[in-house]
Amino acid sequence: MLGILELTAESDFARKVTAWQRRAGRHDLPWQKVADPYRVWLSEIMLQQTQVNAVVPYFDRFLKRFPTLQYLAEADEDDVLAVWSGLGYYARARNLHRAARQISRINQGQFPTRFDDIVALPGVGRSTAGAIAVFSFGQRHPILDGNVKRVFARYFAIEGYPGVQAVANRLWRLAEQLLPERNNVQAYTQGLMDLGAQVCTRSRPRCQACPLAQSCAARLQDRIDRLPTPRPKKVRPQRSTVMLVMEYCGRLMMEKRPASGIWGGLWSFPEIDAADDARQACRGRFGAEVRTIDQMTTIEHGFTHFSLTISPLLCEVKERRPQAEMPGRTWVGLDEAMHYPIPVPVRKLVSQLRARLGLQASPDQAG
Ligand code: ADE
Repeated sequence: MLGILELTAESDFARKVTAWQRRAGRHDLPWQKVADPYRVWLSEIMLQQTQVNAVVPYFDRFLKRFPTLQYLAEADEDDVLAVWSGLGYYARARNLHRAARQISRINQGQFPTRFDDIVALPGVGRSTAGAIAVFSFGQRHPILDGNVKRVFARYFAIEGYPGVQAVANRLWRLAEQLLPERNNVQAYTQGLMDLGAQVCTRSRPRCQACPLAQSCAARLQDRIDRLPTPRPKKVRPQRSTVMLVMEYCGRLMMEKRPASGIWGGLWSFPEIDAADDARQACRGRFGAEVRTIDQMTTIEHGFTHFSLTISPLLCEVKERRPQAEMPGRTWVGLDEAMHYPIPVPVRKLVSQLRARLGLQASPDQAG
Protein backbone atom coordinates (compact mmCIF):
# COMPACT_ATOMS: atom_id res chain seq x y z
CA MET A 1 0.00 0.00 0.00
CA LEU A 2 1.11 3.52 -0.68
CA GLY A 3 1.35 5.99 2.15
CA ILE A 4 -0.35 9.39 2.13
CA LEU A 5 2.81 11.17 1.05
CA GLU A 6 3.15 8.81 -1.89
CA LEU A 7 -0.44 9.26 -3.02
CA THR A 8 -0.57 13.03 -2.78
CA ALA A 9 2.88 13.43 -4.30
CA GLU A 10 2.13 11.27 -7.33
CA SER A 11 0.81 13.65 -9.97
CA ASP A 12 3.01 16.41 -8.69
CA PHE A 13 6.01 14.14 -9.09
CA ALA A 14 5.38 13.39 -12.78
CA ARG A 15 4.56 17.02 -13.57
CA LYS A 16 7.77 18.27 -12.01
CA VAL A 17 9.96 15.64 -13.69
CA THR A 18 8.37 16.27 -17.08
CA ALA A 19 8.65 20.07 -16.88
CA TRP A 20 12.24 19.81 -15.68
CA GLN A 21 13.17 17.46 -18.55
CA ARG A 22 11.74 19.85 -21.12
CA ARG A 23 13.68 22.71 -19.57
CA ALA A 24 16.95 21.18 -18.44
CA GLY A 25 17.16 17.55 -19.59
CA ARG A 26 19.13 16.01 -22.44
CA HIS A 27 17.72 16.50 -25.93
CA ASP A 28 20.61 15.87 -28.26
CA LEU A 29 21.78 12.35 -27.53
CA PRO A 30 22.51 10.48 -30.77
CA TRP A 31 19.65 8.01 -30.27
CA GLN A 32 17.14 10.82 -29.73
CA LYS A 33 17.49 12.12 -33.29
CA VAL A 34 15.01 9.70 -34.89
CA ALA A 35 12.54 7.42 -33.17
CA ASP A 36 13.90 4.38 -34.97
CA PRO A 37 13.33 1.26 -32.83
CA TYR A 38 16.61 -0.30 -33.98
CA ARG A 39 18.59 2.70 -32.71
CA VAL A 40 16.56 3.00 -29.54
CA TRP A 41 16.99 -0.70 -28.81
CA LEU A 42 20.74 -0.57 -29.49
CA SER A 43 21.18 2.46 -27.23
CA GLU A 44 19.15 0.96 -24.40
CA ILE A 45 21.17 -2.26 -24.50
CA MET A 46 24.48 -0.33 -24.51
CA LEU A 47 23.22 1.89 -21.66
CA GLN A 48 22.24 -1.07 -19.46
CA GLN A 49 25.62 -1.23 -17.78
CA THR A 50 27.52 1.69 -19.27
CA GLN A 51 27.28 5.45 -18.87
CA VAL A 52 26.19 7.76 -21.66
CA ASN A 53 29.64 9.30 -22.26
CA ALA A 54 31.24 5.92 -22.77
CA VAL A 55 28.37 4.67 -24.94
CA VAL A 56 28.23 7.49 -27.50
CA PRO A 57 31.38 6.60 -29.54
CA TYR A 58 30.48 2.90 -29.50
CA PHE A 59 26.92 3.66 -30.56
CA ASP A 60 28.13 5.73 -33.54
CA ARG A 61 30.69 3.13 -34.56
CA PHE A 62 28.21 0.27 -34.23
CA LEU A 63 25.64 2.06 -36.41
CA LYS A 64 28.21 2.89 -39.04
CA ARG A 65 29.14 -0.78 -39.22
CA PHE A 66 25.61 -2.20 -38.88
CA PRO A 67 23.28 0.60 -40.06
CA THR A 68 20.10 -1.49 -39.94
CA LEU A 69 18.78 -4.52 -38.13
CA GLN A 70 19.21 -6.51 -41.34
CA TYR A 71 22.95 -5.73 -41.49
CA LEU A 72 23.28 -6.87 -37.89
CA ALA A 73 21.30 -10.06 -38.50
CA GLU A 74 23.57 -10.96 -41.42
CA ALA A 75 26.84 -10.18 -39.62
CA ASP A 76 29.28 -12.72 -38.18
CA GLU A 77 29.28 -12.88 -34.41
CA ASP A 78 33.02 -12.16 -34.36
CA ASP A 79 32.47 -8.87 -36.21
CA VAL A 80 29.74 -7.85 -33.79
CA LEU A 81 31.95 -8.68 -30.80
CA ALA A 82 34.88 -6.80 -32.34
CA VAL A 83 32.84 -3.58 -32.60
CA TRP A 84 31.62 -4.14 -29.03
CA SER A 85 35.12 -4.88 -27.76
CA GLY A 86 36.02 -2.60 -24.85
CA LEU A 87 32.42 -1.91 -23.81
CA GLY A 88 32.29 -4.98 -21.55
CA TYR A 89 29.41 -7.30 -20.60
CA TYR A 90 29.67 -9.09 -23.93
CA ALA A 91 26.53 -11.17 -23.38
CA ARG A 92 24.77 -7.95 -24.40
CA ALA A 93 26.36 -8.08 -27.86
CA ARG A 94 25.65 -11.77 -28.32
CA ASN A 95 22.02 -11.31 -27.28
CA LEU A 96 21.64 -8.30 -29.57
CA HIS A 97 22.92 -10.35 -32.49
CA ARG A 98 20.70 -13.31 -31.60
CA ALA A 99 17.67 -11.04 -31.27
CA ALA A 100 18.39 -9.40 -34.65
CA ARG A 101 18.47 -12.83 -36.29
CA GLN A 102 15.27 -13.79 -34.52
CA ILE A 103 13.46 -10.62 -35.66
CA SER A 104 14.77 -11.02 -39.18
CA ARG A 105 13.60 -14.64 -39.35
CA ILE A 106 10.28 -14.46 -37.55
CA ASN A 107 9.14 -10.90 -38.08
CA GLN A 108 10.49 -10.17 -41.59
CA GLY A 109 12.96 -7.71 -40.09
CA GLN A 110 10.23 -5.54 -38.51
CA PHE A 111 11.07 -4.61 -34.93
CA PRO A 112 8.18 -5.81 -32.70
CA THR A 113 5.81 -3.10 -31.46
CA ARG A 114 3.98 -5.05 -28.74
CA PHE A 115 5.52 -4.83 -25.27
CA ASP A 116 5.16 -8.60 -24.71
CA ASP A 117 7.11 -9.30 -27.90
CA ILE A 118 9.80 -6.72 -27.06
CA VAL A 119 10.35 -8.07 -23.55
CA ALA A 120 10.67 -11.59 -24.99
CA LEU A 121 13.78 -10.62 -27.00
CA PRO A 122 17.08 -11.99 -25.68
CA GLY A 123 18.79 -9.46 -23.40
CA VAL A 124 15.70 -7.28 -22.91
CA GLY A 125 14.26 -7.05 -19.39
CA ARG A 126 11.13 -5.26 -18.23
CA SER A 127 12.76 -1.84 -17.83
CA THR A 128 14.59 -1.95 -21.15
CA ALA A 129 11.42 -3.10 -22.92
CA GLY A 130 9.54 -0.22 -21.29
CA ALA A 131 12.11 2.32 -22.46
CA ILE A 132 12.05 0.93 -26.02
CA ALA A 133 8.24 0.99 -26.15
CA VAL A 134 8.17 4.55 -24.79
CA PHE A 135 10.91 6.06 -26.97
CA SER A 136 10.16 4.16 -30.20
CA PHE A 137 6.38 4.01 -30.19
CA GLY A 138 5.23 6.54 -27.58
CA GLN A 139 3.55 3.78 -25.57
CA ARG A 140 2.82 4.15 -21.86
CA HIS A 141 5.05 1.80 -19.84
CA PRO A 142 7.12 2.28 -16.68
CA ILE A 143 10.89 1.91 -16.47
CA LEU A 144 13.00 1.06 -13.44
CA ASP A 145 16.74 0.99 -14.06
CA GLY A 146 19.36 1.50 -11.36
CA ASN A 147 19.24 5.30 -11.59
CA VAL A 148 15.47 5.43 -11.38
CA LYS A 149 15.48 3.09 -8.38
CA ARG A 150 17.74 5.59 -6.65
CA VAL A 151 15.45 8.54 -7.44
CA PHE A 152 12.38 6.66 -6.11
CA ALA A 153 14.17 5.22 -3.07
CA ARG A 154 15.25 8.71 -2.05
CA TYR A 155 12.11 10.63 -2.91
CA PHE A 156 9.87 8.18 -1.04
CA ALA A 157 12.53 7.15 1.54
CA ILE A 158 12.14 3.49 0.71
CA GLU A 159 14.27 1.25 2.88
CA GLY A 160 15.82 -2.02 1.75
CA TYR A 161 18.26 -3.04 -0.93
CA PRO A 162 16.48 -2.71 -4.32
CA GLY A 163 18.01 -6.02 -5.42
CA VAL A 164 15.66 -7.76 -2.97
CA GLN A 165 12.48 -8.84 -4.78
CA ALA A 166 10.04 -7.35 -2.25
CA VAL A 167 11.74 -3.94 -2.48
CA ALA A 168 11.90 -4.13 -6.28
CA ASN A 169 8.17 -5.01 -6.39
CA ARG A 170 7.36 -1.96 -4.31
CA LEU A 171 9.42 0.24 -6.61
CA TRP A 172 7.73 -1.20 -9.71
CA ARG A 173 4.31 -0.45 -8.23
CA LEU A 174 5.40 3.13 -7.69
CA ALA A 175 6.79 3.31 -11.24
CA GLU A 176 3.39 2.22 -12.57
CA GLN A 177 1.38 4.60 -10.39
CA LEU A 178 3.52 7.64 -11.11
CA LEU A 179 3.29 7.36 -14.91
CA PRO A 180 1.80 10.49 -16.48
CA GLU A 181 -0.58 10.63 -19.42
CA ARG A 182 0.61 9.20 -22.68
CA ASN A 183 1.50 12.52 -24.31
CA ASN A 184 3.98 13.26 -21.52
CA VAL A 185 5.44 9.83 -21.09
CA GLN A 186 8.52 10.30 -23.28
CA ALA A 187 9.64 13.52 -21.58
CA TYR A 188 8.86 11.99 -18.18
CA THR A 189 10.82 8.79 -18.86
CA GLN A 190 13.80 10.68 -20.23
CA GLY A 191 13.50 13.06 -17.28
CA LEU A 192 13.77 10.21 -14.77
CA MET A 193 16.86 8.93 -16.55
CA ASP A 194 18.44 12.39 -16.75
CA LEU A 195 17.68 13.18 -13.12
CA GLY A 196 19.20 9.88 -11.98
CA ALA A 197 22.30 10.28 -14.12
CA GLN A 198 22.97 14.00 -13.67
CA VAL A 199 21.30 15.28 -10.48
CA CYS A 200 20.30 12.50 -8.10
CA THR A 201 23.71 10.88 -8.38
CA ARG A 202 24.93 8.15 -6.06
CA SER A 203 27.43 10.40 -4.31
CA ARG A 204 27.18 14.16 -3.89
CA PRO A 205 23.78 14.63 -5.52
CA ARG A 206 23.01 18.15 -6.76
CA CYS A 207 19.85 18.70 -4.72
CA GLN A 208 19.94 22.44 -5.38
CA ALA A 209 19.28 21.67 -9.07
CA CYS A 210 16.57 19.06 -8.40
CA PRO A 211 12.94 19.83 -9.24
CA LEU A 212 11.85 17.31 -6.56
CA ALA A 213 14.02 18.59 -3.71
CA GLN A 214 11.26 20.33 -1.78
CA SER A 215 9.30 17.15 -1.17
CA CYS A 216 12.14 14.60 -1.28
CA ALA A 217 11.74 12.47 1.86
CA ALA A 218 15.41 11.48 2.03
CA ARG A 219 16.46 15.11 1.90
CA LEU A 220 13.86 16.22 4.45
CA GLN A 221 14.99 13.41 6.76
CA ASP A 222 18.69 14.01 6.05
CA ARG A 223 19.15 10.44 4.84
CA ILE A 224 20.35 11.03 1.29
CA ASP A 225 23.67 9.31 1.82
CA ARG A 226 21.96 6.25 3.33
CA LEU A 227 19.38 5.73 0.57
CA PRO A 228 19.01 3.63 -1.42
CA THR A 229 20.08 0.94 1.03
CA PRO A 230 23.34 -0.50 -0.34
CA ARG A 231 23.83 -4.11 -1.35
CA PRO A 232 24.61 -6.19 1.76
CA LYS A 233 28.39 -6.43 2.02
CA LYS A 234 29.86 -9.62 0.71
CA VAL A 235 33.52 -9.89 -0.11
CA ARG A 236 33.94 -10.59 -3.77
CA PRO A 237 35.70 -13.92 -4.16
CA GLN A 238 39.20 -13.67 -5.54
CA ARG A 239 40.26 -15.88 -8.45
CA SER A 240 43.55 -16.01 -10.25
CA THR A 241 44.86 -17.28 -13.54
CA VAL A 242 48.10 -17.44 -15.48
CA MET A 243 47.98 -16.32 -19.12
CA LEU A 244 50.51 -17.50 -21.67
CA VAL A 245 51.42 -14.62 -23.95
CA MET A 246 53.25 -16.67 -26.58
CA GLU A 247 55.09 -14.50 -29.09
CA TYR A 248 56.55 -15.89 -32.31
CA CYS A 249 57.88 -13.61 -35.06
CA GLY A 250 55.54 -10.77 -34.06
CA ARG A 251 52.52 -13.03 -33.71
CA LEU A 252 50.59 -14.04 -30.60
CA MET A 253 48.78 -17.28 -29.88
CA MET A 254 45.11 -16.61 -29.19
CA GLU A 255 42.17 -18.87 -28.48
CA LYS A 256 38.47 -18.27 -28.89
CA ARG A 257 36.70 -18.73 -25.58
CA PRO A 258 33.62 -20.94 -25.26
CA ALA A 259 30.32 -19.17 -25.97
CA SER A 260 29.19 -19.26 -22.34
CA GLY A 261 31.04 -18.08 -19.25
CA ILE A 262 33.22 -15.01 -18.83
CA TRP A 263 34.26 -13.29 -22.05
CA GLY A 264 32.13 -15.80 -23.95
CA GLY A 265 33.02 -15.89 -27.64
CA LEU A 266 35.91 -13.44 -27.30
CA TRP A 267 39.54 -14.19 -28.14
CA SER A 268 42.09 -14.42 -25.34
CA PHE A 269 45.45 -15.88 -24.38
CA PRO A 270 45.68 -19.52 -23.34
CA GLU A 271 45.55 -20.07 -19.58
CA ILE A 272 47.25 -22.51 -17.25
CA ASP A 273 47.02 -23.20 -13.51
CA ALA A 274 49.62 -21.54 -11.30
CA ALA A 275 51.11 -24.98 -10.54
CA ASP A 276 51.53 -25.94 -14.22
CA ASP A 277 54.83 -25.72 -16.06
CA ALA A 278 54.52 -22.98 -18.71
CA ARG A 279 57.30 -24.34 -20.92
CA GLN A 280 55.71 -27.77 -21.02
CA ALA A 281 52.26 -26.34 -21.68
CA CYS A 282 53.62 -24.39 -24.68
CA ARG A 283 55.31 -27.50 -26.03
CA GLY A 284 52.48 -29.96 -25.32
CA ARG A 285 49.47 -27.87 -26.30
CA PHE A 286 50.92 -25.69 -29.05
CA GLY A 287 54.07 -27.45 -30.30
CA ALA A 288 56.08 -24.35 -29.36
CA GLU A 289 59.62 -24.45 -27.98
CA VAL A 290 60.15 -21.51 -25.68
CA ARG A 291 63.42 -19.57 -25.48
CA THR A 292 62.68 -17.29 -22.53
CA ILE A 293 59.85 -16.78 -20.09
CA ASP A 294 59.32 -13.35 -18.60
CA GLN A 295 56.82 -12.07 -16.09
CA MET A 296 54.63 -9.23 -17.40
CA THR A 297 52.77 -6.74 -15.20
CA THR A 298 49.96 -8.33 -13.22
CA ILE A 299 46.45 -7.16 -14.07
CA GLU A 300 43.50 -6.97 -11.68
CA HIS A 301 40.09 -7.18 -13.28
CA GLY A 302 36.78 -6.81 -11.49
CA PHE A 303 33.69 -8.76 -12.54
CA THR A 304 30.29 -8.39 -10.90
CA HIS A 305 30.68 -11.54 -8.84
CA PHE A 306 34.44 -11.95 -8.40
CA SER A 307 37.78 -10.31 -9.01
CA LEU A 308 40.38 -11.87 -11.21
CA THR A 309 44.15 -11.54 -10.83
CA ILE A 310 45.86 -12.22 -14.13
CA SER A 311 49.55 -13.15 -14.01
CA PRO A 312 50.78 -12.98 -17.59
CA LEU A 313 53.89 -14.81 -18.75
CA LEU A 314 55.61 -13.63 -21.90
CA CYS A 315 56.85 -16.79 -23.59
CA GLU A 316 59.23 -16.04 -26.42
CA VAL A 317 58.89 -18.91 -28.86
CA LYS A 318 62.06 -19.89 -30.75
CA GLU A 319 60.63 -22.70 -32.80
CA ARG A 320 57.26 -24.08 -33.58
CA ARG A 321 56.34 -27.55 -34.77
CA PRO A 322 53.92 -27.37 -37.68
CA GLN A 323 50.47 -28.22 -36.38
CA ALA A 324 47.20 -28.93 -38.09
CA GLU A 325 44.89 -25.90 -38.19
CA MET A 326 42.68 -25.89 -35.16
CA PRO A 327 39.42 -23.96 -35.23
CA GLY A 328 39.30 -21.40 -32.45
CA ARG A 329 43.06 -21.16 -32.21
CA THR A 330 45.31 -18.86 -34.20
CA TRP A 331 48.56 -16.87 -34.34
CA VAL A 332 47.56 -13.22 -34.57
CA GLY A 333 49.81 -10.31 -35.63
CA LEU A 334 50.42 -7.63 -32.98
CA ASP A 335 48.52 -4.96 -34.95
CA GLU A 336 45.75 -7.28 -35.97
CA ALA A 337 45.23 -8.35 -32.34
CA MET A 338 44.00 -4.87 -31.44
CA HIS A 339 41.13 -5.27 -33.92
CA TYR A 340 40.14 -8.70 -32.66
CA PRO A 341 37.19 -9.08 -30.30
CA ILE A 342 39.28 -9.25 -27.13
CA PRO A 343 38.38 -8.34 -23.55
CA VAL A 344 39.83 -5.22 -21.93
CA PRO A 345 42.58 -6.94 -19.84
CA VAL A 346 43.82 -8.80 -22.92
CA ARG A 347 43.87 -5.53 -24.83
CA LYS A 348 45.99 -4.09 -22.00
CA LEU A 349 48.40 -6.99 -22.29
CA VAL A 350 48.76 -6.53 -26.04
CA SER A 351 49.44 -2.81 -25.46
CA GLN A 352 51.96 -3.66 -22.74
CA LEU A 353 53.74 -5.96 -25.13
CA ARG A 354 53.71 -3.45 -27.97
CA ALA A 355 55.29 -0.86 -25.66
CA ARG A 356 57.86 -3.39 -24.55
CA LEU A 357 58.78 -4.17 -28.15
CA GLY A 358 59.08 -0.46 -28.89
CA LEU A 359 56.06 -0.39 -31.20
CA GLN A 360 53.88 2.69 -31.49
CA ALA A 361 50.83 3.11 -29.30
CA SER A 362 48.10 0.78 -30.35
CA PRO A 363 46.34 1.62 -33.61
CA ASP A 364 42.96 1.44 -31.87
CA GLN A 365 42.61 3.27 -28.58
CA ALA A 366 39.07 2.12 -27.83
CA GLY A 367 38.44 0.59 -24.39
N1 ADE B 1 20.08 5.33 -19.64
C1 ADE B 1 19.32 4.34 -20.10
N2 ADE B 1 18.60 4.73 -21.16
C2 ADE B 1 18.93 6.01 -21.40
C3 ADE B 1 18.54 6.96 -22.36
N3 ADE B 1 17.66 6.66 -23.29
N4 ADE B 1 19.08 8.19 -22.28
C4 ADE B 1 19.96 8.48 -21.32
N5 ADE B 1 20.36 7.64 -20.40
C5 ADE B 1 19.86 6.40 -20.42
